[in-house]
Order: sequence, then structure tokens, then C-alpha cells
Amino acid sequence: MALDLFSPVKLGSIALKNRMVMAPLTRSRAPKGTGVPQDLNVTYYEQRATAGLIVTEATPISAMGHGYILLPGIYTDEQVAGWKKVTDAVHAKGGKIVLQLWHVGRISHPSLLNGALPVAPSAIKPAGQAYTYEGLVDFVEPRALDASELPAIVQEYVHATKCALAAGFDGVEIHAANGYLLDQFLRDGSNKRTDNYGGSLENRTRFLLEVTKAVTDVAGSDKVGLRLSPVNPFNDMQDSDPQALFNYVANALNQFNLAYLHVVEGGMGGGPVNFDFAQLRQQFKGSYMANFGYDKTRGNAAIASGHADAIAFGVPFLANPDLVERYKTDAPLNQADSETFYGGSEKGYTDYPFLSA
Ligand code: PHB
Repeated sequence: MALDLFSPVKLGSIALKNRMVMAPLTRSRAPKGTGVPQDLNVTYYEQRATAGLIVTEATPISAMGHGYILLPGIYTDEQVAGWKKVTDAVHAKGGKIVLQLWHVGRISHPSLLNGALPVAPSAIKPAGQAYTYEGLVDFVEPRALDASELPAIVQEYVHATKCALAAGFDGVEIHAANGYLLDQFLRDGSNKRTDNYGGSLENRTRFLLEVTKAVTDVAGSDKVGLRLSPVNPFNDMQDSDPQALFNYVANALNQFNLAYLHVVEGGMGGGPVNFDFAQLRQQFKGSYMANFGYDKTRGNAAIASGHADAIAFGVPFLANPDLVERYKTDAPLNQADSETFYGGSEKGYTDYPFLSA
């Protein structure tokens, strides 16, 4: 029988009961200041434990990794204890869950960083605005990181990975997508460095590979996934040749034997896409998780054809905790309310109805 969304699969050492992954979704419902997951967050993830795998919301690896309000973190003992309740609840329901490791780089603001300037590969101010506790404010020109500071950021990834493992996660996903720090290093629109970390494809990819090496050394490569978004212009990202860049990155990542490569196959904001994802898929020798606008039909087709090993669904899982059952039975879907995507409480978070409710 052909493989489909409901077929089990192993991504590295993580055994999934189906191939429907809950994509990482920022929900901004952690307490200000501590970033410690609460009972409400436990309920939200527990409700979605029938997914083959949950990738948590992007989670800052350090105080300097923050770029939005009300984010959870993964660098203090209290945060580890809060997340442990999440992983225990998901595991008790037979689910698997990995934590997404996040450093936002220049997509932040001093008001979110205790007055510090955001850091980036180069001092280039992105167009757009930061979500702060004082409302939307223009991004600022970030401080270009000195090469001598990079090992300390690698160590933040290491520390956060240790915290995630201590919190009981089945693994971690390195967020190298959507215009945040690692993506900022990859692309020549945001990386104008003239040292070993800028210029050639090899140099722009160097920091990503150093982070990936350090994280896989700590967690074991079979517990580490990595997310890329080759065509997403979100957060003012530009690159002169995304196909060459991401073919190179996918190929370079083969040395790690990662659990999976997670690829956002479109651009937030829509628009035409001049990129051949089949090339990327071919470059990468491990498991491939596809994301971006998939539904049941397209997901099944991508798995049956061998394009993808698993499919990540964002908004559908946000609005349908029992998305797997709904797809299995062709039941109608709850519609997502974008007004409650970010912030607030249980409304639009844990109150989307189950089929049987
Ligand atoms: C967001 O909060 O808008 C956001 C966060 C992480 C992403 C993409 C978007 O990767």
C-alpha cells in the first residue's frame, strides 16, 4: 500500500505514529519576565498530542534571543521545569515533541533586550517593526557581531539544548528560517561581512554549521532537526541566489545525519516563487519535512511521491487539536481566528472544539 499521512515513520531516533507534524507557531502566551510555560500551555500542547510530532513554538535560547512579547524561554531552571510539564503531558498521551531553538538576531528591539542593541551579522536595519510591550516600534540598526563573540552564542545553543533534553523533549529543531539570526548569516542581503563568516557560500554557511555541530554533539544527531525557508522574504530577507545557497546548505548538512530537514516551501505574504524544491530535496540525503499551505490531499501526494517523509501543518493544527482524526474521517475543519493568534488567554488557544465535544 502506498504511504500516506497516517503511515508511521522514524525521523532519526524519533518514532512518529503518523506523518502529520504540528508546525512551530508563535502564540505569545507565556508570562512576561519569566518565560515559564504554564498550565494553559500544557493544555494546548497536550490537546495536540495525536500529531505524529509536535514542534514547539520558537523558543529563545537566551535573553538576547528574544524578539517578541510573552515568549517562553529555554535557558533557566524554572523554564525547564515548566516545559517538563508540557513534555510529560504530551508523552502521557502517546505524543512526541521537539523544542525549536530560536535566536532572533536583528528582529528585536532594545526594549525587549534590557536596553541592549539587537545583534546581527552586519549592522543593517531591517524594514519593519518589532512587537514590544509598548506596541509596534520600528526596528533599529543592530550591532554587528564580532567573530570573537560567536562561540558564546554557540554555547547558548548548547545550553538551551541541554535544557531542552533536561525538560524531556524528544529532540530539538534548530530554527534557521524566516529571517532570524541563522538565516541572517546565510543570506547576502543581511550578511555583508568580510571575515570568515561572510562572502562565499562556504563562509555564510559557517555559523549555521558551527551551531549544528555543537547541538548535534550534545543531543546526538538523530535527535536534531533543522528548519530552513529558502524563499521567505519575511523579516526583510533577500538573497541574490537562493537556489545556489540552499542547495549548498542542504548538501553541507548531510555531514550531520540529522533527524530531519524541515523546509518552508513558500513565502509568507504570498507572491511567485522562483525556486525548485525538488533540487533541495535531492541534495539532502536524510528525512525531509515539508511545510507551507499543505492540506490532506497535497500532503498525501507529497508523501506518496517520495517528495516528503512528513508534512508540517501550522494553522490547521492551531484550530484543530484533533486534526489527525479529522483528516482520517474527512470531517470538517474548525476555522482559525487570526485575531487570537498572538497573546490573550484560552480563547483561540485551548478552546477550539474536538470532533466529539
Ligand atoms: C512570528 O512570531 O511572527 C514568527 C515567529 C517565528 C517564525 C515566523 C514568524 O519563524
